[in-house]
Amino acid sequence: MSTTPSRGMWSSRTGFILAAAGSAVGLGNIWGFPTQVGQGGGAAFVVVYLACIFLICAPIMAGEIALGRRTRLSPVGSFATLAPGGRWWLVGGLGVLAGAGILSFYSVIAGWAVAYVWFTATGAVTGTPDEIGRFFGEFTGNGLVSAALALFVIGTTAAVLLGGVRTGIERVTKALMPLLVLLLIALAVRAVTLPGAGAGLAYYLSPDLSRLADVTVFTSALGQAFFSLSLGMGCILTYGSYFSRRDGIAASALWIVALDTSIALLAGFIIFPVGFSIAGFDPTSSGPGLIFTVLPRLFADLPGGQLFGGAFFLLLSVAALTSTISLLEVPVSHCVDALGWSRAKAVGAVAGVVSVFAIPSALGNGAVAVFTSVPGLGIGFLDLMVNAWNEFALPVGGCLTAIFIGRIWGVERALEELRAEGAWFPAPALWAFLISWICPAAIACILIATLASML
Ligand code: TRP
Repeated sequence: MSTTPSRGMWSSRTGFILAAAGSAVGLGNIWGFPTQVGQGGGAAFVVVYLACIFLICAPIMAGEIALGRRTRLSPVGSFATLAPGGRWWLVGGLGVLAGAGILSFYSVIAGWAVAYVWFTATGAVTGTPDEIGRFFGEFTGNGLVSAALALFVIGTTAAVLLGGVRTGIERVTKALMPLLVLLLIALAVRAVTLPGAGAGLAYYLSPDLSRLADVTVFTSALGQAFFSLSLGMGCILTYGSYFSRRDGIAASALWIVALDTSIALLAGFIIFPVGFSIAGFDPTSSGPGLIFTVLPRLFADLPGGQLFGGAFFLLLSVAALTSTISLLEVPVSHCVDALGWSRAKAVGAVAGVVSVFAIPSALGNGAVAVFTSVPGLGIGFLDLMVNAWNEFALPVGGCLTAIFIGRIWGVERALEELRAEGAWFPAPALWAFLISWICPAAIACILIATLASML
């Protein structure tokens, strides 16, 4: 368990919070959350999502940071060091795969966001809702363009990782996150005052509790919660490994959770009022195109809409970039730590593999039939990736991490790390109970119910 002096450190607690929030805030909040709310039936999904965030994910967030800081290693090394001789390192291994797997589809959506900077700023995408929808269909139906954009995103991410991550992420996030929040607030104010917005707000805020009979609401809410917080695959653990022992973990974790959750909720206050102001809008059937088909309607009627639209997609692209950086960092740092590769070699190899796997997701939106509707499953390859990684790999990783912290590392030792140097830590007994009982049991129940419903 050697701590190499060259590992580096965040410049301050704020630096860590910004970097981790930069990882957490991304497409998951602005693209993923409204899409899942739409497919999950509205406010009932929101209620389950918030329960997952606070009862399951927030305790795991603190635990992951503590694990990383305790060992000062990337995920595989962390688990291997604290449980030598066992198989627990496989949890870290699953995280390494998940980082690459998630990046493979994430880069496709991020590529669309990049293209929409241009489309909205130049006024290429305006008109009736039908025209805007057709524009999106034709654009994503061109597989080569989607693939090229995804490769551009992966290439940019790789370039940033080669050029020294930490100061870069801190600086970019510090400047742009506040701007993103301000723009979202302004757009939300506009959205809720649109004619017809009331129906959208009702859909978003008054839960239809009969939806809770559907296990997929729980599965997708749990998966979305892990995805949005960058949890369950060692990403936050890795960032925690650069976190100073002088700073408190609990307060930082709560900041990250609060920031990430408010930005997701804010996105809902834009999408649903705007969506329901469009005649014939059906949130359940929009799929991954929801934000790309709804938001241009808002910009079309807004004074200065091209400017707002371009700025929105630009900030979204930057938010996506701080997330792709954290996704690529996990497999890269693993190759450096475990295989002894140079950083350049690791970045090149991992980015190359991810690029290959991004192609089916890029071609699966109309360009190539087998990827558009995977035989035997009836869903597109991109949706398949979302389900496999978000709704399965991340919760499994999170569940095993909670079991590891509760039973192998032990809550006592974890609490020692969490409260190191007299750090503020509220309700340690509650945290211990959540991490050792509620997290594993709730995740296991949801996973088992999901598997049972598939049979
Ligand atoms: N949380 C990011 C988002 O919401 C995506 C992301 C970055 C992520 N790193 C991750 C998801 C690690 C899961 C695990 O857009």
